[in-house]
Amino acid sequence: MTTTITLTGAGGQIGYALLFRIAAGDLLGPDEKVRLRLLEIPQGLGAAEGAALELQDGAFGLLEHVEVTDDAAVGFDGCDLALLVGARPRGPGMERADLLAANAGIFGPQGAAIAANAAAGVRVTVVGNPANTNALIAAASADGVPAERFTALTRLDENRARAQLAQTLGTPVHTVRRVPIWGNHSATQFPDISHATVAGRPVAPALEQIVGDVPAWLDETFIPRVAKRGAEIIAVRGSSSVASAANATIEHVRDWVRGTDDWTSAGVVSHGEYGVPEGLVSSFPVRSVDGEWQIVEGLELSEWARARIDASVAELLQERETVQALGLL
Ligand code: NAI
Repeated sequence: MTTTITLTGAGGQIGYALLFRIAAGDLLGPDEKVRLRLLEIPQGLGAAEGAALELQDGAFGLLEHVEVTDDAAVGFDGCDLALLVGARPRGPGMERADLLAANAGIFGPQGAAIAANAAAGVRVTVVGNPANTNALIAAASADGVPAERFTALTRLDENRARAQLAQTLGTPVHTVRRVPIWGNHSATQFPDISHATVAGRPVAPALEQIVGDVPAWLDETFIPRVAKRGAEIIAVRGSSSVASAANATIEHVRDWVRGTDDWTSAGVVSHGEYGVPEGLVSSFPVRSVDGEWQIVEGLELSEWARARIDASVAELLQERETVQALGLL
């Protein structure tokens, strides 16, 4: 079998990190051939073409074909998996409304092009920021494609949260599970450890022994560290997160296609779960079953957790209202 994968922003940093892992089989396994379509804007075509030459030189056995284009109809033709990474970054003096509007101008037309050209059953993962609202706009513009096929990446946030928790506990990261992200992929996100386990046991007692006052540690250390990790990486590395973002994208798509054995996090469309207004693309604890994300329902939420979720969801609502007020949704 061959899967057609469209990557937007293929000439950018995350694109460069993603392409070689996809071609090496990290996304779909060692038996699935891939056809890559690299969609860029004209200024990004040279970098994408250069990456395509290097893909050729990788002599990857699974890679059937690479096409570079700035035409969305060509880019999404027959697409099974769309990775929407290309986005408009915030420029100097740009207000949040300007950023939302500029990205609506990208993700609206891309949603329409997906509806017109992609394969039935297309799955879309939005990485480009503001990812949740960009996914909402793409879904709203994709007539005939179920909104459930549009998701936003919050897996990097979850991985950061699990890694921080593992480091604090002095335990390998794979033993830390069930640390979902709720809400927006932004500084208001809520990484939730209330149901977390370490080596199968609740995390709270072990954590209390190490940090003492767990609620204070969450408010003052853990949540800000996870939410601001992107800025920390920029400060230390001198440039934004790239390989970790590509890795999280691979994990999100791989789990969506192949299924999960436990919870993870993804920005998915709300049907009103946990009081999140219908239609918003919000991060939830999810499982992937038979190729579809399912929100993990029935979790007990403390008042404190509820307030954290509400604050992030309020930001998502505000983003939707801004885009609606501009007539872009
Ligand atoms: P980059 O600036 O290196 O690359 C972006 C690429 O997108 C450029 O080559 C640009 O030409 C292209 N592009 C812009 N508009 C396009 C359009 N309409 N169609 C196709 N391509 C287009 O940026 P980088 O580092 O690769 O990041 C990409 C995005 O991912 C950013 O919006 C960033 O904020 C976001 N991001 C999201 C994360 C998440 O967890 N959801 C984590 C890290 C980054």
